[in-house]
Amino acid sequence: MSVKTTVSVIKADVGSFCGHHIVHPKQMEVARECLEKAKKEGLINSYYVTHCGDDLQLIMTHNRGESDPKIHELAWNTFIEVNERVSKELKLYAAGQDLLAEAFSGNVRGMGPGVAELEFEERRSDPIVVFMADKTEPGAWNLPLFRIFADPFNTAGLVIDPSLHEGFVFEVLDVMEGVSVKLKCPEEMYDLLALLGTPGRYVISKVWRHDGLPAAAASVSRLSLIAGRYVGKDDPVCIVRAQHGLPALGEILEAFAFPHSVAGWMRGSHHGPMMPVSIKDAKCTRFDGPPRVVALGFQVTNGKLVGLYGDEPADLFDDPAFDKARAMANEIADYLRRHGPFMPHRLGPDEMEYTTLPQVLAKLKDRFEKAT
Ligand code: 13P
Ligand code: 13P
Ligand code: MG
Ligand code: MG
Repeated sequence: MSVKTTVSVIKADVGSFCGHHIVHPKQMEVARECLEKAKKEGLINSYYVTHCGDDLQLIMTHNRGESDPKIHELAWNTFIEVNERVSKELKLYAAGQDLLAEAFSGNVRGMGPGVAELEFEERRSDPIVVFMADKTEPGAWNLPLFRIFADPFNTAGLVIDPSLHEGFVFEVLDVMEGVSVKLKCPEEMYDLLALLGTPGRYVISKVWRHDGLPAAAASVSRLSLIAGRYVGKDDPVCIVRAQHGLPALGEILEAFAFPHSVAGWMRGSHHGPMMPVSIKDAKCTRFDGPPRVVALGFQVTNGKLVGLYGDEPADLFDDPAFDKARAMANEIADYLRRHGPFMPHRLGPDEMEYTTLPQVLAKLKDRFEKAT
């Protein structure tokens, strides 16, 4: 057992209320029951159950390290239990959507759920932000994570704080080939950007400070690549540590003041703006979107999550300072929606491979004649 603390955020869409809209409160109740039991048994130190749209989120702390089979099994069994006792019982929409494997086999990675885990030695004080998105893919974090850890126009500390000045190392995963590369910023910034600009393929999985201090971890699973067909979007999560030689809380949040365009939205097939919202607004409506991101702030103290009011964390986008980003996201949503079925609103042909579009195109195949 390690003296280090591990934060594990494991999430899945196991069915939702009224379409791909929102997790049902009874689903969260059952998830809390499962995690409370695991806490009493001493497997985890603390937990917080929440949702972002139709994705059920388990945020846990423990001392078992990253990729621990017992922690992953707990998450998997929790999702199964929620699915059996609530999703199926209430006939919620797309019950069990992300549970792609028949049975648990040691690690939930590759089985459907999304996982972000970060093991670290607690500092004098350890503020963390847990980001959770709905209606998008893991590459959606590329732009904000780059801004937070490598862009001095976003993060003032990169310029003025000597402990950040030497930069950060990014681990980037090629989700098509299953290989990863570590690149150091600022030295290799242009190489890094050459990859990150293709967010459907190259995805940031980890960030460390230049001296190896763990700074951020993101989920990387692409459901369509696991299943070979469209099952819903991945709706990724990400953990970012703040302050004391890492970007300040406000530098971390600043990266979301621009609602950048991400892939996802309706049927996982459209580009749309990422709208930063409070938990109460984390429910997709218009054209199943626009894609949303929430940010919860915790202190990690002696191995446990500490909230603001009891267990409740800070709901960081519940702030008029993000009204403008939300208004801009609505403007962009209008602009893109007016393209209807045309690119660049609809995704390009590579990404559409995993949707139901190829079935439609196959029907037309024999009707094409040689052009004269
Ligand atoms: P339905 O065929 O159930 O309408 O699904 C469409 C959809 O929302 C894809 O996720
Ligand atoms: P989720 O990925 O959130 O389940 O949404 C899927 C979808 O098809 C929305 O239109
Ligand atoms: Mg869904
Ligand atoms: Mg979702």
